[in-house]
Amino acid sequence: MGNHQSLISFAQLKHTLIILMADNAKIILEGNEYELPVFTGSEGEKAIDISDLRAKTGYITLDIGYKNTGATTSGITFLDGEEGILRHRGYSIEDLAAKASFLEVAYLLLNGELPTRQQFDDFDNAIREHTLVNEGLEGMFKAFPTGSHPMGQLNSMISALGLFYPKSLNPNRPEDAINRTVLRLLAKMPTICAMIYKKRSGHPIIYPKNNLDYVSNYLNMTFAQVTMDHYQPDPVIVDAMNKLLILHADHEQNCSASTVRMVGSSQSNLYSSIAAGIAALWGPLHGGANQEVLEMLELIRQDGGDVQKWVNKAKDKNDNFRLMGFGHRVYKNFDPRAKIIKKTCDDVLNKLGVHDPVLEIAKKLEETALTDPYFVERKLYPNVDFYSGIIYRAIGFPTDFFTVLFALGRLPGWISQWQEMRREKQPIARPRQIYTGEVPRNFKFMQDR
Ligand code: SDX
Repeated sequence: MGNHQSLISFAQLKHTLIILMADNAKIILEGNEYELPVFTGSEGEKAIDISDLRAKTGYITLDIGYKNTGATTSGITFLDGEEGILRHRGYSIEDLAAKASFLEVAYLLLNGELPTRQQFDDFDNAIREHTLVNEGLEGMFKAFPTGSHPMGQLNSMISALGLFYPKSLNPNRPEDAINRTVLRLLAKMPTICAMIYKKRSGHPIIYPKNNLDYVSNYLNMTFAQVTMDHYQPDPVIVDAMNKLLILHADHEQNCSASTVRMVGSSQSNLYSSIAAGIAALWGPLHGGANQEVLEMLELIRQDGGDVQKWVNKAKDKNDNFRLMGFGHRVYKNFDPRAKIIKKTCDDVLNKLGVHDPVLEIAKKLEETALTDPYFVERKLYPNVDFYSGIIYRAIGFPTDFFTVLFALGRLPGWISQWQEMRREKQPIARPRQIYTGEVPRNFKFMQDR
């Protein structure tokens, strides 16, 4: 095999034959036969292990966007996109959303088991000890342009948070030191999210109250005012927020979780790995979609609510418009989270006595799209972002704050993914490529060009 690098593009298998057997795959390349092991996961998922493909054949694989490529094994979350199944450490998302608190689910993701009462109390109390942030961090708000996007602020704040704990910048410290960093991040993220919310409205920051549970504390720091004697978060809102944070807690190797793992694989510290995940989540094709959905629904409402017109635009290849909150790389059935959020949406708006006209538009949009062959053929269903923003708005959050709430929910998932990658001592992530640029040519001085 020459020293050039060839590739197997699964989309263009011409001179290649892949034969899959129970526990290995045979590849016949240019008349030579190679065996590659087949890996089977605990839910029966199968992969061809190509760890030594290049050493054996000189070929690499090419899979832009990793649509068919597994970057790791993982025991945290299982998705079945065809069946619309989501489980965390073996527990269904339906059970967790209905029966657990967000902090219980965070413990489950991080430790692999649901906590006993004692374990939960220890975890909860340890977090309460770390809810304050260094006053120096507040100085960062002087640098942020007024009205700048909360996700940009959150990204900067979490990266800066690590600078206040220089020892934590070494990710190879003993487990107890790493766990202290994990607790700090879990404890300070709500405080920082609330600080960002307060600063954008020019109001004084509300400090954490450690007699409140995790979600109530976050709502109190966000919506209480210094002028209030007492703020009692509405139990309907506390329950809805718990559910929403659980539904966003982890989602296996999505774009932001893979980013956290990739940055962490260089032995970068946890704060900078999480900040990188926040940056990836911000994108409108990922977590930023929840903001885009509300803006899209508002646009349709202001345009007179002609849902079919906008569904047609989403189908038109010459039109850049996409139905935000629809479609998913993995789910080719209903996103189970979207089903739960849709029901929560009805409950919360009814209990709060809120009538939001965009909810009716969302439902009409869903009905129209789900009967349209374009969406049916492509198996495009509402995803987690389609209804979540309607609830966030009913609770009182501004649209550009929705993705901050997604990040608040996703934090324990990101940390769990980073921990798993680190504990398994995975190598630095460094994908290959196929070069398609200029072949060697001689340099010419400027006067000769
Ligand atoms: C999240 O990965 C995760 O797990 C993410 C997440 C998590 O919890 O971490 O679930 C959270 O990010 C949910 C997704 C939020 N994003 C959006 O709602 C943005 C709108 N949706 C898309 O842009 C799109 O569906 C993606 C990005 C979600 C998935 O894109 P893929 O898998 O790369 O699919 P694709 O873009 O190749 O689309 C396949 C076809 C294309 O048409 P054809 O070229 O076959 O003719 O479906 C079409 C696309 O044009 N299509 C859409 C569409 N989504 C896909 N057409 C109109 N509207 C859409 N929303």
